[in-house]
Amino acid sequence: MAGIFNVLIAMLAGLGAVTLCCIIYSMLRFLTLHLIIPSHPLQSYKRSGPEPTYALVTGSSAGIGLGVAQALVKEGFAIILLGHLAEELAEAKSGLQALRPGAVVRILVMNARTATPEEIKDAVQSIADLQLSILVNNVGGNPVRLPAFRPMATHSSEDIDAVINHNARFMARLTALTLPLLSRNSRPEDRSLILNMSSAAWVGIPWIIMYGATKAFNLGFSCGLARELKASPDTSHIDCLAIVPGEVRSQGNCEGVSDSEPRWDQFGQCIVDKADNAISRNQTHLHPWMMHDFQQKILAALPEGISTAALNDALGKKREAFNSAWERSQKME
Ligand SMILES: NC(=O)c1ccc[n+]([C@@H]2O[C@H](COP(=O)([O-])OP(=O)(O)OC[C@H]3O[C@@H](n4cnc5c(N)ncnc54)[C@H](OP(=O)(O)O)[C@@H]3O)[C@@H](O)[C@H]2O)c1
Repeated sequence: MAGIFNVLIAMLAGLGAVTLCCIIYSMLRFLTLHLIIPSHPLQSYKRSGPEPTYALVTGSSAGIGLGVAQALVKEGFAIILLGHLAEELAEAKSGLQALRPGAVVRILVMNARTATPEEIKDAVQSIADLQLSILVNNVGGNPVRLPAFRPMATHSSEDIDAVINHNARFMARLTALTLPLLSRNSRPEDRSLILNMSSAAWVGIPWIIMYGATKAFNLGFSCGLARELKASPDTSHIDCLAIVPGEVRSQGNCEGVSDSEPRWDQFGQCIVDKADNAISRNQTHLHPWMMHDFQQKILAALPEGISTAALNDALGKKREAFNSAWERSQKME
């Protein structure tokens, strides 16, 4: 009897030791991902020679896209800003050149929501002679009739199509057309990178259901592409990573956001700082902001009833903040 008892104790102690090792390992991975930052990130995506290496960033006249462009310009990349308003893009270009005098910045004016396949093809053709090594599929949002936070039954077909075009269709078409440019490598060590902007909303959130659903598309698209690229020697030098932000203070997310959340430029820098680390660990997706990463891990561990209640409560407050701001602006007009 004592023998069986001793074996049981030894088994439980072994199980405890393995569990403890797993916890310590996960904590170390979490901390090293977020705290060890390279002094010059993304240098492995630079091409050699005097010609500049370009990064194409969509939706980059403001918000996180501009933040990523700023961080890339600081690292010496040339930038192609893609957006729908020429004036705003010109302003963003001046800002980047003030940040790094002499920076090479080009502009592509294109409406992600309405661009036809031919227009996207022509835009990609217009940059085909450049050394492109980074594509950031950032453009996204919830371009529905206002107020933006509404039950699904109130969404028109136009609302539904607008969100799909803006967040999903454009990035898929642009990526397919840009892949041949990213595949070109004159030296075996030349690498390319695709970053795809998803959102913590991919889990499915109320009142902006189409937004969350298209962000799940971005995540699935990105993870699938990352695996496909690794499968062929012709494309295995292209890395692909989905970025999964939580709340970020930006032009598009300016109501009901706590001051403790990162600002668009801090978040853009954070993406650039942590992408190398995530890719070297073969991650297919990254929560760049440490607190967002922690929140996502907690949310994933909660029972469904509790996470539904927490998400409905948080989104209810956001709905109230966004829709009240819209009502105030209506009264002022
Ligand atoms: N902010 C957040 O909390 C958050 C959280 C999770 C995920 N994300 C994702 O991160 C990405 C950036 O978000 P953000 O908050 O930085 O957005 P944002 O502040 O609204 O900025 C969006 C950018 O896209 C441009 N844009 C808007 N409509 C366009 C169109 N039809 N065609 C081309 N460009 C267009 C905007 O230009 P104009 O200024 O000229 O309109 C702006 O430069 C999005 O994919 C978003 O879903 C954001």
